[in-house]
Amino acid sequence: MANPLLRALGLTSTRRTVETVVPRRSFDEVILPPATRRTLDQALVHVTSHDLIFNRWGLGERHPSGLALAFNFAGPPGTGKTICAEAIAHALGRQLLVVRYAEMESLWMGETPKNVSAVFRLARDQNAVLLFDEADAIAARRSSSVEHGFLRESNTVVNVLLKELETFSGVVIFATNLAANFDPAFERRIRTHVLFEMPGVNEREQIWRVQMHPTLTPLAADVDFRKLAEAYEATGGDIRNAVLKAAMAAAGETGGDAFKAIHHRHLEDGIREVMGAKHVMRQSLFTPPPSPEVQLEEAIRAVPAFQMMRWLPVVLSGVALLLAAIALIVAMMR
Ligand SMILES: Nc1ncnc2c1ncn2[C@@H]1O[C@H](COP(=O)(O)OP(=O)(O)O)[C@@H](O)[C@H]1O
Ligand SMILES: [Mg+2]
Repeated sequence: MANPLLRALGLTSTRRTVETVVPRRSFDEVILPPATRRTLDQALVHVTSHDLIFNRWGLGERHPSGLALAFNFAGPPGTGKTICAEAIAHALGRQLLVVRYAEMESLWMGETPKNVSAVFRLARDQNAVLLFDEADAIAARRSSSVEHGFLRESNTVVNVLLKELETFSGVVIFATNLAANFDPAFERRIRTHVLFEMPGVNEREQIWRVQMHPTLTPLAADVDFRKLAEAYEATGGDIRNAVLKAAMAAAGETGGDAFKAIHHRHLEDGIREVMGAKHVMRQSLFTPPPSPEVQLEEAIRAVPAFQMMRWLPVVLSGVALLLAAIALIVAMMR
């Protein structure tokens, strides 16, 4: 049964905008470049000693102000921001309350500030780690211009958020794709920015490995993770998707289950497909399709008759030249 507060917020769709997750994945399953790992370890030290001092030693009750531990996880999609938030909750033995901010804002039009407060209340009740996922929009906006209703609302959201952060004694993580453009007041509340970079070859090799179950996944002897890591500059998210595609393909082959295994070719096909789809996405996002006129012109150019037409003036002038020459010769012969 969904939490009544969640229900009241109308959050019963399949991909919930607010969702409580019991964390299952730990830091053992996250492979990060060394610099990211170090910053994250330091963040974790903050969190655990903060938890000890303010919760278990009870000082949070005596000093209720300015206690929130707010972090910003910044990096491209699929680099492990969400999974790291889960791992932090796991390390603390707490639930993770995930707020998909971008969706929430469009769904809650006009109600966002009120619901941001509700989310903090819920996190407090559940003693959960709060993750504002896909939070670029909140991080970047508190405009001084209040002409538009939309802007006014986003200003209110940030103001509410800042107020909540002042009194919230738990852990709040913002996951953003952009590292820049933080509202200065908001920036002051962020304790640490953790940059999630694209994984290098060594990390990719390990990510391929951790995506498999250590004992249950049937891997054929020809699987070469190093080769895959070297050949494809993929994110962890890409690798995860490729592994799932490969497993589907391997499971779909004929024969008894006992003889089925994931081969190198399955993984290679999987990652190729994933990277291909990403490429198409990027192209359609960044290169606008040609206008109808241009498309028509291109279609006409492709027709063979059109190709021949291009030579028509040359042929005609050749013929004209020839006729003129003949006429000249005939005139001279008279
Ligand atoms: N650094 C990583 N180590 C291991 N697995 C990863 C890593 N990054 C991503 N993944 C895999 O990809 C999935 C999606 O990653 P996610 O944490 O949602 O990325 P982000 O939040 O940065 O978009 C994860 O559930 C995990 O399976
Ligand atoms: Mg994510």
